[in-house]
Amino acid sequence: MADSPQLSWWRLELDPPGELEESLTWRLESLGIQRVALRYKPEEPHRRTLQAWLPEADWPSEERERLVVALQDMAEPFGLSLPPVRWHLQPEEDWALSWKQHWQPDPVGQSLLILPAWLEHPPEHAGRQALLIDPGSAFGTGSHPTTRLCLEALEQTELQGALVADLGCGSGILAIAALALGASEATASDTDTLAVRATGENAALNGCAEQLQVAHGSADALQALLQGRRADLLLCNILAPVLSELAPQFDGLMQPAGVGLLSGLLLDQVEPLQQRLQQHGWAVELAADQGRWALLRIQRSERVIT
Ligand SMILES: C[S@@+](CC[C@H](N)C(=O)[O-])C[C@H]1O[C@@H](n2cnc3c(N)ncnc32)[C@H](O)[C@@H]1O
Repeated sequence: MADSPQLSWWRLELDPPGELEESLTWRLESLGIQRVALRYKPEEPHRRTLQAWLPEADWPSEERERLVVALQDMAEPFGLSLPPVRWHLQPEEDWALSWKQHWQPDPVGQSLLILPAWLEHPPEHAGRQALLIDPGSAFGTGSHPTTRLCLEALEQTELQGALVADLGCGSGILAIAALALGASEATASDTDTLAVRATGENAALNGCAEQLQVAHGSADALQALLQGRRADLLLCNILAPVLSELAPQFDGLMQPAGVGLLSGLLLDQVEPLQQRLQQHGWAVELAADQGRWALLRIQRSERVIT
């Protein structure tokens, strides 16, 4: 053991404004950085630190500078500048600083518990339904307000026997929660192959792999999985511009009496997205919000504006 080379890690830290959390997390993941965590104290949920771990040997200073530029590019569309990036060098065995250490069982809503797959179900949360999640490099640790908004809305939705479609499934957390809450079947898709893999693995961890089918792609891939059927419930937690682009395809995914839960948008993006959805025949309700994030509930409207 004494002869084995010591692996060290760069720990990147920055305190992002809420609007940037998601984009920065995606950017890190799209660059192949798999160890990413959002750290916060339960009593201060809005003061959050984004952390990422990079093997020291693969990330010399010029590579790290390029990474910071790539992150700065994510801030520009929001008219924001990137908060200062802090770098800390840590040895492999410094477990106290490692990413998994910051991930704790996380109660959500009235009845759910997001449980890191490597931890035991804590007795103080014995009454909660555990969702075992190992995020790998996919989005969906459940810490993001938009995921929480969707989970809380799922709890309040009648799901018994429902067929659910999860567009942009990330870690699969929403589809897995829907099944845990009584849905009989779920289909899911994501344009990110790592998310597709994570969803499959998390479905297996939760013992629902047979009820959850996942495909690589967007709305077309999801529709193909549905094999001519339409879902009772559509879940879609993606950024507002993508929701807007996907709006014409929701119809093919949901049965006429179906409900859609859409998140990933900021409160000030509600109005334009609402108008866009109404043009496609949807009645839209702002169902909940958290911080600056919104959750929309859509249903087929009687009156279609063309
Ligand atoms: C904000 S994450 C949501 C993940 C998970 N559903 C949750 O609620 O935590 C959005 C996911 O949508 C995926 N995505 C982005 N654009 C997409 C598109 N056009 N079609 C399908 N998935 C997309 C991303 O790869 C990412 O995994």
